[in-house]
Amino acid sequence: MAARTPAEPARIAIRVEDVTAYRGDALVVNLFEGVSEPAGATGAVDRALGGAIGSLIRRKEMSGKAGELTAIHTFGRLPVARVLLVGLGKKEKCDLEAVRAVTGEALRLLRRTGAARVGTILHGAGAGGLEATAATQAVTEGALLGCYRFERYKKLEKDRKVLGELTILTREAAQRRSLEQAVRRGRIVAEGVLLARDLVNAPPNDLTPAGLAAAAAAAARSWGFSCRILERGQMLRLGMGALLGVAQGSANPPRLIVLRHRGGRQAKPAVAFVGKGVTFDTGGISLKPADNMESMKGDMSGAAAVIGAFAALARLKAPVHVLGVIPAVENMPSGTATRPGDILRAMSGKTIEVINTDAEGRLILADALTYARRDGAARLVDVATLTGACVVALGTIRSGAFANDEAWMAAVREASEAAGEKVWPLPMDEEYDELIKSDVAEIKNTGGRKGGAITAAKFLAHFVEKTPWVHLDIAGTYETDKEKGYRVKGGTGVAVRTLVEIGLRLAR
Ligand code: BES
Ligand code: MN
Ligand code: ZN
Repeated sequence: MAARTPAEPARIAIRVEDVTAYRGDALVVNLFEGVSEPAGATGAVDRALGGAIGSLIRRKEMSGKAGELTAIHTFGRLPVARVLLVGLGKKEKCDLEAVRAVTGEALRLLRRTGAARVGTILHGAGAGGLEATAATQAVTEGALLGCYRFERYKKLEKDRKVLGELTILTREAAQRRSLEQAVRRGRIVAEGVLLARDLVNAPPNDLTPAGLAAAAAAAARSWGFSCRILERGQMLRLGMGALLGVAQGSANPPRLIVLRHRGGRQAKPAVAFVGKGVTFDTGGISLKPADNMESMKGDMSGAAAVIGAFAALARLKAPVHVLGVIPAVENMPSGTATRPGDILRAMSGKTIEVINTDAEGRLILADALTYARRDGAARLVDVATLTGACVVALGTIRSGAFANDEAWMAAVREASEAAGEKVWPLPMDEEYDELIKSDVAEIKNTGGRKGGAITAAKFLAHFVEKTPWVHLDIAGTYETDKEKGYRVKGGTGVAVRTLVEIGLRLAR
């Protein structure tokens, strides 16, 4: 796993300058839905262009709806050759997600048409009612996330176009420093997400459990957090029979990746992030069908989110002690693989009847959660591409959230909302426990098709006991097949921003 390609745009600068004075290849201005007379910076550009924007609105070529884009050639009336007018949607609904999305969409379009240096107004600040620093961070995140490309395994095109520089224009000289800080925060968070995307997109022949561990160690070295890697023998001594049961079918040996960011003075971690790291999920002996099986290279997206979040929290020097635990395995069918009917003994001592070897995520998480608890973590969050049932329940928009503690659930939901990543709570009634009772062991690893996302969470609950815990099922959100807003095809890097926000909030 090579180090990631430098994020694009390489430079994001704050400049105190009138938008009409910007010299570069293109300038991005915006329009709210329903506005008939462009005001503010867009108004100034409209005047310089002899009313071209007002005319587009009157002719109904542009209404300001979110996602609308219109390029206007300036023919020398401004120092830039082109102005890109973007719709920001309804003013009342303007939020940081809208700012990220419009920035990503606009910059991809401009890059495609050859713009290397782009200026932008600060979307959402002013009339949009967003704080200038928050808007600046969102523009930065939208730019870096939206311009991301995974091309490490391809010969680059001869006329490959690169967006080199984004300049955020402001008239408030006094804000300059705080906006520059916001750009820095945005870059750190976005690069955490990009690191996660790189790991998700990497092919499973390169990103084996050892490959994932090497990538985590490299990130730890770069950004200054600690990384300890346990091998099979150490896991055997810890009694991690559930994790090892999944790993035993593969020629690629497992790793337990233990990350620590000691930003606070706390002796014990305020929180542990646990990420599912199945570098490839064939289903094992309960083999998956061939269709789309390649997307199971992303079954380590939870692990990727944890590593990305650690990179960001370390760079931000968040004053908090955070533990990261990543069980990394490959789920393969073979002569040494676990069979349906096998009984495994987890690190906690519980016995598990394996009904379906494709329900492997919960098995490795069981031991990782136990490890995090034994380390003394006060709270737990696990992130996992755990169930197809969660995709059926929530689709690709929201991740599922499950908890054993209402206050901790509320805190995680607020953090995810603030980070711009959608989650939705699913129930954990006692009655569901029936479904995972086993006749021959203390618990079994599947509860049937009905309520599959919930019974998976219920299984995990057996291993967190009383520690406040939230489980995020990202099976529907870890990848996307569409280019939209700040998302591009492939891994989304989902949950990095939520985990970073959780860490920052615990640091306060
Ligand atoms: N990694 C899969 C879940 C998954 C499915 C993630 C689709 C992303 C997209 C998981 O290991 C799995 O196979 N789960 C099974 C559980 C079942 C056997 C109880 C599932 O959801 O079908
Ligand atoms: Mn599986
Ligand atoms: Zn899986």
